[in-house]
Formats: sequence, C-alpha cells, structure tokens
Amino acid sequence: MYKKFIRPLFFLFQPEFIHKVTFKLLKFIFFIPGIKGLICAIFNKSTPALNRTVFGINFKNPVGLAAGFDKNAELFEELSAFGFGFIEIGTLTPEPQPGNPTPRVFRIQPDKGLINRMGFNNEGLKSAVKRLRNNKSKVIIGGNIGKNKITPNEDAISDYEKGFLALYDVVDYFVVNVSSPNTPNLRELQEKEPLKKLLSRLQELNSEKIQKKPILLKIAPDLTNEQLEDIIEIVFDTRIDGIVATNTTISREGLSINETEIDKMGAGGLSGSPLKDRSTEVIRYLSENSDNKIPIIGVGGIMTANDAIEKLEAGASLVQVYTGFIYEGPGIVKKINQELVKRKL
Ligand SMILES: Cc1cc2nc3c(=O)[nH]c(=O)nc-3n(C[C@H](O)[C@H](O)[C@H](O)COP(=O)(O)O)c2cc1C
Repeated sequence: MYKKFIRPLFFLFQPEFIHKVTFKLLKFIFFIPGIKGLICAIFNKSTPALNRTVFGINFKNPVGLAAGFDKNAELFEELSAFGFGFIEIGTLTPEPQPGNPTPRVFRIQPDKGLINRMGFNNEGLKSAVKRLRNNKSKVIIGGNIGKNKITPNEDAISDYEKGFLALYDVVDYFVVNVSSPNTPNLRELQEKEPLKKLLSRLQELNSEKIQKKPILLKIAPDLTNEQLEDIIEIVFDTRIDGIVATNTTISREGLSINETEIDKMGAGGLSGSPLKDRSTEVIRYLSENSDNKIPIIGVGGIMTANDAIEKLEAGASLVQVYTGFIYEGPGIVKKINQELVKRKL
C-alpha cells in the first residue's frame, strides 16, 4: 500500500516539504478517536521475545527511529504507534537555528539513498523540553545533542553541557553528536583530545545526578581504523555507555547515477542503501576490537529485515532506521521485528 500508492505521491514533492506535510497530517489524524489503537494494532509486533535490555534500559523491541526525523520532539508519541522500540529526537542545539538554505535534502531514487545538508535546523532545547514534559507515551526517548553553528569548537563543550542538563529529566539516554558533516568543523570534535575532554565533562555532570543516564557517542562512517581504535579507547576511558554507528557519509561511493547529477546535489551526508555496507563494517570493527564489550546502536542503510539482522550479527544490540522508513514505509518496523521473532534472534 505505502510503496504502491503513498510513496509515489509523496515523491512528487520536495522531501522537506512532504516531511512537514506528513507531520501535520499525522498530528491531525491522531485526533480521530480510536485511530491510535488501530495504527498500533496494524503496525506493532509485541512479544517478550523482542524485549532487550541494553545499557540498563528495557526496550520493548530493538528497532528505533534514528535522529533527525523528529528533530524538535513534535511527533514522537504518534511515531511510537508505528511500533518503534525507541525514538531518538534531535539533534537539538541550545539555541534555535535555521540550518542551511533550502533545498537541502535530495532523493537518489535508483539507489534508495538521500543526500542531506540540513545543518542542525531545529527549534532549540527550550521548546523540545516543553513538549517532552508532556510525554504521555511510554516510548523510550533518546536525546541527541549538538552545538550551534555559531559556537566555535573551543566553546563546544558548553553547548553539549546545556543539552545534557536541559534534557536530563525528559529523555532516557543521550547521544552526543559530533559526526554530522553539515556543521562546519563539527567532526573535528571526534579527534582524540577534544572528544575525551567533552565526554569526560558530560560524565562528570552525569555523576553529579542521583541516577546516571546512559551517554552514547554517534560517529561518522568516514573514520579510519586508527580513529575507530581511538574511539574504543575513549569509550573505555570515559566509561560512556555505547556508540551509535553510523551517521551519514561524505563519500559518494556506490551510487549508480552519473557524476554530474551527484555534483548538482552538492555537499551533504549520504544515507540509505549506499551507506549500508560501510556502516556494518564500522559496527563489526568496533565490536571485534572491543571484545564485544561496547553496546552499539547500528544505523545506516537498513531497508529490509535482513539488513537489520546483518547489523545485529556484526555486533549491534539495537538498530535504527531513517531512510528505510522513507523508502519502505512504516511497515518496515514490524517486518524487522517479525523476522527477528521468526529466526529467534
Ligand atoms: C534528512 C536527514 C536528517 C538527519 N538529521 C540528523 C540529525 O539531526 N542528527 C543525527 O545524529 N543524525 C541525523 N541524520 C542521520 C540519521 O540519523 C542516520 O544516522 C543516517 O541517516 C543513516 O541511517 P539511514 O541510512 O537509515 O538513514 C539525518 C539523516 C537524514 C537523512
């Protein structure tokens, strides 16, 4: 139904426009009495066999919605009805910011990919916190935090501190995003020293709380093996709780469309099918080189249940989808969960 009727209609419009329209539509639809129950009945797969406990949190199933889809925490309750085990909101920056000029998201349909250079467009921490305080659903929420574009890297820690403190009461776990290719110089924070400093500081704040919350680091797929080894060392040193692997890539490998078309789209991070193998490779490397001791959320190019299983077999404990949700539709969550149950994974 989605791929036959809804997707062709959606794909007639610019991605960001249709994203906004869908949000409005879903908000409206969910006002209809009984609709939430109906959607839950259609899209959920609930069984104890899918339950997972990872970094101290009990997830009803291991399939989550990746960051960037519900940046401002506007729709997490409605989205949770589609069967997600958890939803990551953000990336949120302390102050609202508009992001890059539009158009800034491009579909690469033949390859089931997207290129985006959103640039952390978001309404800032304050409005998201307000919405999250009214969270009536029981869905697990991850809070993905970043820095404002105008904040120089030397002062970045202060932006992440603000994110951590503001969201502490309203999210279940944190993701420190230093891997978006769309904020100038952000990824320099993945270097050993600044990263260690940043994560140590957040752990310091965390230990001042009565109950610590899990902190994960989201990394780029473009890191070298040497850099991945540094990441493993830092995760152990700072005792953060896990890694989200991976963000979008700056590489344009694996695309079937011609170079002129790719160039026309310009800069940005590539997601979807072309990212799948590299992201799995990163997960496997991290897992093998840490004796499987670091919980990993695997994300990047999951379009089918098999793609999700590949990530889990490579060492991920949980998975997330974004581009797969766009191309395959909301049924993707149930399909993955059904297959996991079938294969007793
Ligand atoms: C339009 C778009 C916006 C995104 N925004 C964010 C973001 O704000 N923060 C973040 O950590 N990741 C963001 N991502 C990256 C996704 O969370 C995910 O890591 C990446 O797309 C790979 O997964 P996928 O192939 O399933 O899409 C975004 C991805 C897309 C396509």
